[in-house]
Parts: sequence; structure tokens; C-alpha cells
Amino acid sequence: MANVVVIGTQWGDEGKGKVVDLLTERANYVVRFQGGNNAGHTLVVDGKQFIFHLIPSGILHPGKVCMIGNGVVLDPGVLIQEMDKLDAANIPVTPASLAISHYTHVIMPYHRALDEARESRKGSTKIGTTGRGIGPCYEDKVCRCGIRIHDLMDPGHFREKLEANLEEKNFMLKHFFGAAPLDAGSIADEYLAYGERLAPYAANISEVLQGADRDGRNILFEGAQGTHLDVDHGTYPFVTSSNTVAGNACCGSGIGPTRIHKVIGVVKAYTTRVGGGPFPCELLDETGRHIQKVGGEFGATTGRPRRCGWLDMVVVNSSIRLNGLSGLVITKLDVLTGLPTLKIATKYRCGSHELGSVPPELKALEACEPVYEELPGWEEDIGSVRRFGNLPANTRRYLKAIEDLASTPLNLVSVGPGRDETIILQNPFD
Ligand code: IMP
Repeated sequence: MANVVVIGTQWGDEGKGKVVDLLTERANYVVRFQGGNNAGHTLVVDGKQFIFHLIPSGILHPGKVCMIGNGVVLDPGVLIQEMDKLDAANIPVTPASLAISHYTHVIMPYHRALDEARESRKGSTKIGTTGRGIGPCYEDKVCRCGIRIHDLMDPGHFREKLEANLEEKNFMLKHFFGAAPLDAGSIADEYLAYGERLAPYAANISEVLQGADRDGRNILFEGAQGTHLDVDHGTYPFVTSSNTVAGNACCGSGIGPTRIHKVIGVVKAYTTRVGGGPFPCELLDETGRHIQKVGGEFGATTGRPRRCGWLDMVVVNSSIRLNGLSGLVITKLDVLTGLPTLKIATKYRCGSHELGSVPPELKALEACEPVYEELPGWEEDIGSVRRFGNLPANTRRYLKAIEDLASTPLNLVSVGPGRDETIILQNPFD
């Protein structure tokens, strides 16, 4: 029995969806613990593509229980759309396969309106949010005026809360942002209907997980975004509004820290970032455009092109520290095939200093120059390789360099988008 957390070590989009999907084979429960529909997982199963923003990708495996923890911010309209799409693909979502914490905060239309209004007002200093209302929903959670899943099931109480919130939000929208105010009546009708539809799925996730853990079941915690988008430890303010680090698997689901056995960090074989913020290894040249094209580096949520760059071990090593990683998964290695020389940043040069971890000050990070180690590339197609020893010598050398620089063992290596296009060195559930 093992409880495993999977997180992203970079700025999100590391290919966690495929990794989670693969590890789900050994899990009984798959739990999301933070973020919302700002995340997007693209999965290819039997040649068919699925994109999920909220439902854990484990839903594609019959007999698994997927959970949306209290740390998630949930847009009920988006969740219901995903449920309906799965139903249409003959993958029924039932209360036996999906549970939502009573305490999960609900993204309301005014959260989306404020997210957009605030970003457009910012102009050149914008964060580049996904515009899904994530930040404003977390603000209300901390401000203690948020609406939670259980509130949708109590119409009188819900209407009261909604009206009190809208009084303030409409004032901001109208008088500060010059945006259109929203109507309480139509929001109430829409959201109370969502409440009726979702009521059978609401549960005490913490209690269910305790029972599962005591029964010796395997639990997989699925992180969204990446460590350097963490609201505390990331490149603030160019971050998301939740804690994306592994420690939040506990707060965001209601399980205690002693019940986590392994923490796996997903490392894309190069680096990408969407939205604004510093990115020391960014490639603004032909190589960057090549990686973007071959890697299909366009956001699953917003369709925006992702900024691309070389692998940055300063970023990865900071993630190893922040998450206490027990193993690494390397993804999208095949994208690098054909590049004559590969570079890995091993440290930063910042004026006369050399740094081995990401500096806390944004200005200092912006002034950092990566110091690269150069390695020879490979030409051979690696998509069909299933054993580490069968990889070309230069591919093995690249992977060994990562393992040595990280002082953390590799668990899996992904050489293509399909479930089977994976080299398994050690399954974290073993
Ligand atoms: P928000 O999470 O929508 O508030 O956006 C804040 C920042 O996090 C922006 O730079 C987004 O592009 C980024 N972000 C949010 N979710 C993801 C994700 O799943 N992958 C990559 N970047 C993300």
C-alpha cells in the first residue's frame, strides 16, 4: 500500500496528465487537491484524445474513485460539461466514480468577470491568467465570504450569501472597472440547478480517504500547475493563486502528512511557461520555435502558445527541495530528437555571483543568466523504446546528466504521448 503525490516541477504543463493516468492503474483513489479549470490535461488513450480541466484523468479507468478535494476551486458549469462529454463517450460518471468535497469553493460568474476586468486594466503588467476566475475565488475563500459546494444545496442560505457578495462585487465591477454588473436572480437559478445535479456527488472526502487508507488502498494525489506557479514559493506575482507544492495535498484533501509515502516530480525534458513572468532559459530563436512546434506547446486550457526553453535544473532542484521529491518522471523526451546539441542549465550567473537555486527577488531572477552544460543530441526515433538500455547512448547520457544533477532517481521516462510509450524504471506504488 502507498499514497503517492504527483506534482509538476516547472511552470506547469509538464505532462502530468499522462503520468497520473499511467499510475492510476495501481491506484484505487485519485484526488485533485488544488487549482481549478485553469489546469488542462491532454490524454491520448487508444488513439483518442481527451482534455480534462477538472475531473481527475483517472476517470478513464473503470473501478477507480476520483475526488475533487476542498483545496480545489470548482466551476460547476465546466464540471457538468466534462461529465456530459464523458457520458457521450460511454464513460459514465456516477457518485461511485466521482466525489466532490462539501468544502470545495465554487467559482461564481463574478469571479470570472473580476479576473478578466482586473487583467485588462493591468495592461503590460498583466499576469496572463487563464481568465477562469481562479484568483478571485481563492480571494473570497480567504476573505471568508466564499460559496462552497454545500451552500448550493441550501437555496435560502445560498441566495442570501449570493446577494451579499454581489452587492460588493457589482460595486467593484461597475464603479471601479467600468464593467457590466451581474444579476443575482439568474445566477441563483443557474447555480441552484447545478447544486441539484451535483448533490449526489458531495461527500466528506477526508473521511473517505481515512477509510481508504486504513483499508490499505492506494491513493494518488494529482497536482495541477507546477511548483514555480505556487502562490508562496513560485515566481510571485507571476503565479497561480493556490499552493501547488506537494504539502498542499494534505490541506487540500484532508489527509495528514504522515499518510503520504512518496512524492513524484514530473520534469519535462525542456522548459515551458505560459503567461508572463521571468524565464531564464527561454529560447526566442529558431530552436525555441522548433521545440514549440514539435512538442505541440499550445495551452490545453487557453490555446495560447507556450514559451519554450532549455531544461533548467536550478528550477528542478528548487522543486526537489520544496516538495521533498522521492523520484522523477521525465516527459516529452522524444521532442528533443534531432536537435544536434542539447543544453541543461546547471546554475545561474547573477552579476558576480553564481546561484544554485531560484532567487526570491523577481528583479534578481530577471537579471540571472543560465550557465549551461552542453550535451550531444540523438537522431534515432525513441518512441518505440521500452527499456532504458535500448535508448541511444546520447539519450541515456542526457537522462543520466539529469539524474546526477538532481541527486534523485528517475522513476519513469515518457517517449511519446500514448500510455504505453513509457520506460518504467521504478513504479512508485511498488
Ligand atoms: P490563473 O491560475 O488563471 O490565475 O493564472 C495565473 C498564472 O498561472 C498564469 O501565468 C497562467 O498562465 C498560469 N497557469 C495557470 N494554470 C496553469 C496550468 O495548468 N499550466 C500552466 N500555467 C498555468
